Amino acid sequence: MTAYLYRNVPVEARDRAVAEVYELLEPGGWLVVQEYSVAGDSRARLVWDIVARFIIIPLGVLLDGNHDLYHYLWQSVIEFDSVTRFADRLAGAGFSDVAHRTATGWQHGILHTFVARKPREKS
Ligand SMILES: C[S@@+](CC[C@H](N)C(=O)[O-])C[C@H]1O[C@@H](n2cnc3c(N)ncnc32)[C@H](O)[C@@H]1O
Repeated sequence: MTAYLYRNVPVEARDRAVAEVYELLEPGGWLVVQEYSVAGDSRARLVWDIVARFIIIPLGVLLDGNHDLYHYLWQSVIEFDSVTRFADRLAGAGFSDVAHRTATGWQHGILHTFVARKPREKS
């Protein structure tokens, strides 16, 4: 299981980071990824911009005194792969049964859970 990892891996290293997890998994093992993604979804992008600009960043400044960290969070979600692009990365690394589902509530279309399985070795 990885949560909020791949968005923080530079885009040029992302395929390699997925491939390394694939290599570590036992055949038949599952990878679960939770990540924020809004690329290609204008409604999700709008909601994310509003929540980040008017709630997350102001609260981050008020409670944590760290504007840059929460600004990075906002931008890193905008810049991360679309859901389809990340699912394609998983399939490209060799994973099978790649599927994804989005969250409910305000995070609908913004927060996503991916599952993918490393195929069992052929006997
Ligand atoms: C936002 S934190 C999430 C931590 C934890 N999974 C959670 O949900 O609370 C992102 C994590 O990704 C790790 N990380 C970022 N880039 C990485 C990389 N290139 N390779 C390995 N880990 C990385 C960081 O060290 C950090 O622990």
